Amino acid sequence: MELAAAIRGRRSIRKFQPQDVPKIVITEILEEARWAPSWGNTQPWDLYVLTGKTLAKFKEMNIQQTLISASIASDVPMLENWPAAMKARYGELGKVVLSVQGIKREDKEARDQYYKNMVSAFDAPCLIFACISRDNLVEYQMLDLGLITQTICLSAHGKGLGTCLLAAAARFSAQIRKIAPIPDDKKIVVGIALGYPDPSFPLNNFERDRAKLDEFVHWME
Ligand SMILES: Cc1cc2nc3c(=O)[nH]c(=O)nc-3n(C[C@H](O)[C@H](O)[C@H](O)COP(=O)(O)O)c2cc1C
Repeated sequence: MELAAAIRGRRSIRKFQPQDVPKIVITEILEEARWAPSWGNTQPWDLYVLTGKTLAKFKEMNIQQTLISASIASDVPMLENWPAAMKARYGELGKVVLSVQGIKREDKEARDQYYKNMVSAFDAPCLIFACISRDNLVEYQMLDLGLITQTICLSAHGKGLGTCLLAAAARFSAQIRKIAPIPDDKKIVVGIALGYPDPSFPLNNFERDRAKLDEFVHWME
């Protein structure tokens, strides 16, 4: 796939076909992604790949924790008070994901069902947890982790697969560790749902928006 088309064509996939992703395909994606850049080639990431029964247990746990409204206990803080411009975009996305599915704001049951889908990683057959060390961590290591996660998403897209980065998968880190023994000294930062996209699902097709360049690019000639 041509690079510009891959960058523009990648999008978050929120419904997957039921078939598994062969391990060899997941491996090919990770083989490509390990070429992501990092500070001094330090490659500070660890990836934990959940499939099969382990993933099924994770989905069950994440739904249960959400249903009982357990307070979020993630390894990385989740921002509550967003700056105005970001809050507006976040709010807009929240509205769009519901309206595209025909879900009305007042339809709590349908909204709850959608959030249940989200916390079960949109039923993807594979979920990769992207982690970094708890110690010796500054913002640059988080940047490195972002670089490899985007590279995973692009590589997957180039092979006809879809991804969705999911903070919603990383909310209950202690519970995750009971199912998938990710060491305590690794921070579980984000999940990456991976699978074959369901092309007919409206949320996999709606038109997305981005800020124009003049809102965030500052030329200094
Ligand atoms: C760190 C991070 C966490 C995210 N967590 C979630 C999530 O929990 N649920 C979700 O539906 N999308 C999540 N997303 C996906 C974003 O909503 C999505 O990337 C954004 O709306 C832009 O849309 P696009 O990926 O289709 O271009 C996350 C993205 C990032 C980078």
